[in-house]
Amino acid sequence: MSRNTRVYVAGHRGLVGSALCRALRGRVELVTATSAELDLRDAAATAAFLDRHRPEVVVVAAARVGGIGANAAAPVDFLSDNLRIQLSIMDAARALRVPRLLFLGSSCIYPRQARLPIREEELMTGPLEPTNSAYAVAKIAGVEQVRAVRAQHGLAWISAMPTNLYGPGDNFHPTRSHVLPALVRRFHEAVREGHGEVVVWGTGAPRREFLHSDDAAAALVTLLESYDDPDPINVGTGRDISIAGLARLIADASGFRGRVRFDDAKPDGTPRKVLDVSRITALGWRPAIALREGIAATCAWYRDAVAADLAVAR
Ligand SMILES: NC(=O)c1ccc[n+]([C@@H]2O[C@H](COP(=O)([O-])OP(=O)(O)OC[C@H]3O[C@@H](n4cnc5c(N)ncnc54)[C@H](OP(=O)(O)O)[C@@H]3O)[C@@H](O)[C@H]2O)c1
Repeated sequence: MSRNTRVYVAGHRGLVGSALCRALRGRVELVTATSAELDLRDAAATAAFLDRHRPEVVVVAAARVGGIGANAAAPVDFLSDNLRIQLSIMDAARALRVPRLLFLGSSCIYPRQARLPIREEELMTGPLEPTNSAYAVAKIAGVEQVRAVRAQHGLAWISAMPTNLYGPGDNFHPTRSHVLPALVRRFHEAVREGHGEVVVWGTGAPRREFLHSDDAAAALVTLLESYDDPDPINVGTGRDISIAGLARLIADASGFRGRVRFDDAKPDGTPRKVLDVSRITALGWRPAIALREGIAATCAWYRDAVAADLAVAR
């Protein structure tokens, strides 16, 4: 990629897309459109947009994304919108023979009982986690489409499977967000409103992996520059932390001095989930932002955004 390579980042205002645009700004010619300007579920409008801008690289970072609650409340939307978004973009890009496309899957598309740490080969080796199976099936279709386009049309398209991401510009919606931004919001609200207790769902024992969006963006740039394989590639830290440990880090960063109570009547989900990242680290990429540091920066961003009355929830 060079200064005059046209790179279309679909979903440039989202957590991943905004981080990728920060990483690429000044290095390439960015092409973007908000969902109000271009609804990517509309195949004809998407084809016309790509035809007009003729990108040489496309990154599919637009999707309907949400936590367990959002997935459970609207599985049809997660299946249908994601299938339509990715199909519109990939069909249009294929018709124009866009040479390079990066599709973003997610670590939640691996089977519920995948062997740990999860290697890329675990994909489609067992039943999915039922709470987000609609989303996962849409994403698996995207991975398959990338493979098929490579096989049938010889284009160097790739798929990446990021772990749980967090960072500035995340979705801090009270019920529709992922665990980390949801806790950031809850702890800050407790501090602001003077509550002595914050309730965290589940026992606090499950272990999860978290990667800062700026690290993820650097990983995606590495992949665009040096990965060319039909198999998807994991993007993560390879390190996990318990939800209780995560809550403690967020409590510290938000200045919460009260009690953290774990509501063990609520489900824990799978006990541990962490990716094997040997494939991507072999390409030379490593995460650079420690979790404590990344959480502190995310909390500072959240506080500033709330103080400035900016939208922090989608
Ligand atoms: N967040 C994570 O933890 C995580 C983890 C693994 C993988 N991923 C993957 O990374 C990708 C991006 O996720 P994210 O967390 O950055 O999501 P996000 O913050 O919710 O952003 C999604 C973006 O998609 C755009 N979008 C949604 N529906 C659209 C439509 N119909 N037409 C046009 N644009 C539309 C939105 O654009 P507007 O802002 O203009 O409305 C939004 O900026 C997804 O494929 C997701 O599966 C995310």
